[in-house]
Parts: sequence; structure tokens; C-alpha cells
Amino acid sequence: MWGDEGKGKIVDLLAGGFDCVVRYNGGANAGHTVWIGPEKFALHLLPAGILRTGVVAVIGPGVVVDPQALMEEIAGLTARGMKIGDQLKISSRAHLVMPYHKLEDQLSEGVASGGQKLGTTVRGIGPCYAEKARRSGGIRFDDLLNEPALADRVRRIVENKAKVLAALYGHDQPPDVEACLHVITDARASLSGYICDTTQYLDDAIRSGRRLLFEGANGLLLDIDHGTFPFVTSSSTGPAGVASGAGVPPTILRRTIGVTKAYSTRVGSGPFVTELSDAVGDRIREQGHEYGTTTGRPRRCGWFDAVACRYSARLGGATDLAVMHLDTLAGFERVGICTAYECDGERLDVPPAGVARLERCRPVIEYLPGWGDEVRDARTRSQLPPNARAYVECIESLVGAAVTIVSVGPERSQTLLGGGWDRVVQDAA
Ligand code: IMP
Repeated sequence: MWGDEGKGKIVDLLAGGFDCVVRYNGGANAGHTVWIGPEKFALHLLPAGILRTGVVAVIGPGVVVDPQALMEEIAGLTARGMKIGDQLKISSRAHLVMPYHKLEDQLSEGVASGGQKLGTTVRGIGPCYAEKARRSGGIRFDDLLNEPALADRVRRIVENKAKVLAALYGHDQPPDVEACLHVITDARASLSGYICDTTQYLDDAIRSGRRLLFEGANGLLLDIDHGTFPFVTSSSTGPAGVASGAGVPPTILRRTIGVTKAYSTRVGSGPFVTELSDAVGDRIREQGHEYGTTTGRPRRCGWFDAVACRYSARLGGATDLAVMHLDTLAGFERVGICTAYECDGERLDVPPAGVARLERCRPVIEYLPGWGDEVRDARTRSQLPPNARAYVECIESLVGAAVTIVSVGPERSQTLLGGGWDRVVQDAA
């Protein structure tokens, strides 16, 4: 959907059954929360597999990496007693998010969409991808190792940026060139040992039969081509992005898990057909602790949007659905589910392409009876309260994909695994 569904938890849970976990898109805009007992881990750039001993975490060529953020994340885990060492591989082809990208993200928010804010995470994601697409001034990890005159190039880039930012946004404080050079020297000093040709590494892994799990950074409805443009991020967020972003053949994906919540949320601007701007929406936000992992912003909340989810599942070729936060809806007398949209007198089963029409869509909501707190104690799908079970079945039939994972709480143990995922996790244990 629009992200924040709980990919971090699912990847962490399944990672033990895999040899490598690979990030293929996005950057520090992602926020993946993992609870291990009472300990909370918030990951932004590191693939969630990093929390599992022996699992190799790969940051692929399609990721835009803020080296400062990555170094902080590594330092945070090291301070908690984890050793990273050989467990992390960073693609030599991945681009660096520089301080001027974050500055540009901030400045462009005022004007980029005709004065309307996109509500980005201001992590420099869009400007870094744009730089890459323009093919002027992008810095890659390989350059840290192999470009002798990189410092001179950085100085020229910063000079040029100062002119562009002044012309476009009237910004009269040029980016600090020394700060940018520091980023480069720090990254070289701290991250060089992790940089490699990850495509070669993954090819060797595939040939020797190792199992790979690819972790998307952002929701499918934030996809640059298929999402609610322009209120999207700047990469191919779905499974279609795996091949290009990770540098693996498109034929290697066997199963695709679409991760969705039992309701819908969105952070940042953009159309959100089932949004509840009332006490019900507030209650979902409070019960689900719906505040952004990356920015702390309150998330917009609404009923489950089966139209949007069906569209995502179709584009992503979801073989499996993971329905998260079923426990968050505990205590509601009735729970809504959007089965279709109504727009200009027409009933729609597929979201329209443009935001203008999407903004005019009204949800057709059907209500199902709610369930209670006991949902948190279920450990198999058959142990769910009957109303909760019926709700999951309703999602399954409306979306048209098998729900093989249901989450009933933040803990690893509060996950009902079916579809063979139980065996993947057990074998790992
Ligand atoms: P950007 O990726 O920072 O450019 O932000 C573009 C849009 O995507 C904004 O609406 C963000 O709130 C949203 N976004 C980006 N990454 C995530 C994520 O991991 N979770 C939820 N929303 C995200």
C-alpha cells in the first residue's frame, strides 16, 4: 500500500530461513521497526536481515545511500553489542545521498508540485535519484575507492549546486563544501570494507543454491510509475524493481509477499480514499501507534482499502499476503472494508490513474462485526476469534491472494504463519 505496513517484522521473521536479505530500492526514507523481546530496532538503510546471525545483508545498486545515516545505524547496532563485519555488503554501484540532496529536498517541497507539498521524508531521496537520472554529478560507492580526483569533483558539484539552488529556489547559502568533503572521507574510512560488486556476490549465491529474500523499502502505491503520482517516491518499489535494483535476473523470484495492514495508513500528502478524519481514525492511530518511524509524523488512518490492495497485489504478482496489525482493530464494534470506489456516479473496482479523479472517489464501505483482545493470543489462524477469521477471509477474497501470514502483535511469536512459511521459520530455528 503506502508503506509502514510492517515489512520489517516480516523480513526479520523470515530472514532466519534465508542466506541473504537484499534491499533493492529507496534509501533512508524507509523505516522498518523490529521488536525482539522488549528491544526495539528501527532500521532505515540496513536490511532487516542484519539482526539475524549468519544472514548476509546486501544493499543493492538501486538503493540511494546516505552514508552518514548508514554509519549512524551501524554504530547504533554495534553499541548494542552486534558485530557487523562480513555480514554487510554495499554495492559499489549504489549512489550516495549527499547533504545538498537533503537541502534540495527541503527547498523543493515548497514549489515542486506547483506549491503543493509532496510531504517527502526530506531524506534527499528524490534529488539523489534525479541526479542519477540526469547523469551529472552522481557519486557512487565505487568512486570512493577508485576516483583519485573525487574531492575536486565534489568541489565542482557543490559550486554548481549553489548556482542551481539559488536560481531555482532563491537560496543564497551555498552548501558547505567542507561538510561534503567530510562525508566522503568519513564514508571512505568507515564503509570501504563493505563495498563490493554485490551483483557478482548475488550471482555466486544463486549459483550455489543459497536462498535470497528481497526487502522492498516503500509501499507499492508509492511506486514512481504505478503509485499515486506525483505523491510517490522516486523508485520502483514493487517486485518489478527487484531485478534492476538488486542486479539479479527477473526470473529468480519464486514467491512475492504483499504486506498490508488490516486497515490503511498513509504519511505525507496525496489521495487516500478511505481516510477517516474523525474519532475512528484517531482511535486507529492511537491503538496502532501510527506515528512514522523515520519522521515521527502522525499517520493518516482509514479502513482497509481492498480496491487499492487488489491493484497492488496484481502489479506485484503477490502469491502471498501478510495481514498485519489485526490486533489494532480489537475492541471496535464493527470494522469497515472498502470494496469499491464511487466516482462521478460510476462504480470503480480499479483505482483511477490520476490524482484529480482519485480525489473525487468515495469509498463504498461494508461493515463486518468486530473482535476483542483475545486476538493477540492466537498462534494459528484457527485460533483467531471467528469474526477476525471472517475478516481475514474477506480480505483474501476481495484482494484475490492467499493470506498466508497474519500478525496479531509486535512480537515475533505473535505471527500466524501458514503457506509453508512456518516450515521456513522452524527450519531456521
Ligand atoms: P520521499 O521518498 O522521501 O521522497 O517521500 C515521498 C513520499 O513517500 C512521501 O509521501 C513519504 O511520506 C512517502 N514515503 C517514503 N518512504 C516511505 C516509507 O518507508 N513509509 C511510508 N511512506 C514513505
